[in-house]
Amino acid sequence: MSTTDQENQLDAKKQKLLEQRQQIDQLHAKMSKIKHKIAVISGKGGVGKSTVTVNLAAAFAQKGYKVGILDADIHGPSVPRLLGLSGKEVKTGPPGAFPVNGPLDLKVMSIDFFLPESVPTIWRGPLKMGAIRQFLAEIVWGDLDILLIDLPPGTGDEPLTIAQFLPEMDGVIVVTMPTELSSTIVKKAITFALRLNMPIIGVVENMSGFICPHCGTKTEIFQSGGGKKMAEESGVAFLGSLPIDPTVGADAQQGKPFMIAHAESAAAKAFTDVVQKVETYLKQREQNTKPETNRT
Ligand SMILES: Nc1ncnc2c1ncn2[C@@H]1O[C@H](COP(=O)(O)OP(=O)(O)OP(=O)(O)O)[C@@H](O)[C@H]1O
Ligand SMILES: [Mg+2]
Repeated sequence: MSTTDQENQLDAKKQKLLEQRQQIDQLHAKMSKIKHKIAVISGKGGVGKSTVTVNLAAAFAQKGYKVGILDADIHGPSVPRLLGLSGKEVKTGPPGAFPVNGPLDLKVMSIDFFLPESVPTIWRGPLKMGAIRQFLAEIVWGDLDILLIDLPPGTGDEPLTIAQFLPEMDGVIVVTMPTELSSTIVKKAITFALRLNMPIIGVVENMSGFICPHCGTKTEIFQSGGGKKMAEESGVAFLGSLPIDPTVGADAQQGKPFMIAHAESAAAKAFTDVVQKVETYLKQREQNTKPETNRT
């Protein structure tokens, strides 16, 4: 290769890096008006991460917070479906793409809004990461109190790379199931958060026992309670457990968070506790990060 070719290649690389930097700066600028950002992660898929995300969002919106949800799960974007927003169109304008308005005025953005139905996401490697960076940089959130981010499942390269694009988080919520409560999974989630400088808000144990809708008796389908023990051992907070509740699945099918559709259900009652703990965490964080001069 000639020296000119090498120089041209170097210039192209520099240009690409510059573009990436600009996109990340743009992303951070667009997210800077959001007071609190919380990522929801899990050690593996199918444990209820999206369920926790949408219901936490609904609960905070019910309390009067301005809430947004970023569905950053590129392979299984399910937030629009869980909120009855599938197929909605995203409005775009000069500043970028505007989130879709969901129930309780939730501001929702998902890659799902840009994908034709039934086409799996088959992007690979750098192409995919570039597209995601651009997608994230374009979103016009406006003023929000809380943004909840549903990251792809697992603690591998993909959720890590996506999380690295995002600005600093206030904290991360780890969703887990009684069956996967091995110390390795919790440790992996903790390592993941640490690598990203994200404080851990706590662990939620989902599908922890089944409460019979007829008689109210709790049956331990999987051995529950491990979440609390594991959280204690790992030195992170335990936020609460959510029982297996048929209304959760039924509401998901209907595109309604159970916190809205079935506020009296066993799941909603249990979840209220989780919401309270997250709210306390955010309030404490606000006080701790206030500048010295503002403290009373
Ligand atoms: N507590 C619960 N009781 C009953 N069903 C539940 C409960 N939590 C979640 N589900 C159901 O389990 C399935 C998986 O939940 P969800 O989609 O929230 O998991 P996820 O961790 O986001 O999955 P993925 O890794 O695919 O993104 C859904 O069908 C959901 O309705
Ligand atoms: Mg999900």
